[in-house]
Amino acid sequence: MQQTVGIIGTGWVGTSVAISTLHSGAADALWLHDVRGAVAEGEAMDLAHGAAFYPPCEVKVATVEAMRACQVVVVAAGRNGKPGESRLDLLRDNARVVADIGRTLAGFDGTIVLVSNPVDVLTQVMTEASGLPPARVLGTGTLLDTARLRQMLAQRLQLATTSIHAQVVGEHGDSEVVLWSGAQVGGVPLRQWPGWDAADEAALALEVRRAAYEVIARKGATNHAIGLVTAHLLRCMLRGEQRVLTVSRVQEGAFGLHGVALSLPTVVGHGGGGTVLEPGLDAAELAALEHSAEVLRQARATLPP
Ligand code: 2OP
Repeated sequence: MQQTVGIIGTGWVGTSVAISTLHSGAADALWLHDVRGAVAEGEAMDLAHGAAFYPPCEVKVATVEAMRACQVVVVAAGRNGKPGESRLDLLRDNARVVADIGRTLAGFDGTIVLVSNPVDVLTQVMTEASGLPPARVLGTGTLLDTARLRQMLAQRLQLATTSIHAQVVGEHGDSEVVLWSGAQVGGVPLRQWPGWDAADEAALALEVRRAAYEVIARKGATNHAIGLVTAHLLRCMLRGEQRVLTVSRVQEGAFGLHGVALSLPTVVGHGGGGTVLEPGLDAAELAALEHSAEVLRQARATLPP
């Protein structure tokens, strides 16, 4: 079956998702849309001109309505954060944009991937506006924070990033939770790693939490890492890889959470993210996850129903 990915929003992030997706070879066709029609057209042309350097994939522009024919639609529309602004500050502006797209995609039988921020609340807004089951509306969530954590730990321990098993759950934002109690390398709990101490945990968690702000303060936006993370997520879905990834979705009971979108380790395959796992958490991590859910519930409550 032809695998078609649509990307709505061709700004910094949407175009980085596009180029990473092309290099991954996961899609046979890539359709782009932006409210600035000429920009989407220019990006489609520019990406198509490089066709000799990625696996075969047709790149063209499409309307949001036409994207119903895609297997996966990525939403990277809306504005990005300004220096000093938290992801939740963006909420009102981007919620309107996402709800409009969701209504247009109502009845879509593929999967929607939210990338725009604040990604968790927007994942919930999209789920509600589109009427799709929660398993088929995923946000990139803390997949990016997990990637940052693994990269930073790998650097600290002088190991390959892929050998670090550690994850971040909850909000993709200031209340996110690093699951230190379950972090391990080759079966060795990180907390038993020679030279590891509790002060390292607080410092690294802060570094992960602040990573986007540090990049935004220097270059005005983050785009490369989220592009790579999203392309990885798309590949897992399109190929039905059944990988466990920390993605965001409206929760339906894991850890007693209902009706709030946040990230937990989730099995990702053809149907999106159906099975949500409940890793072992210590008491502090569980309290922090509950706090994160509360932050997100309150953010959602600031929007019209
Ligand atoms: C990031 O974490 C800003 O959410 C974006 O890079």
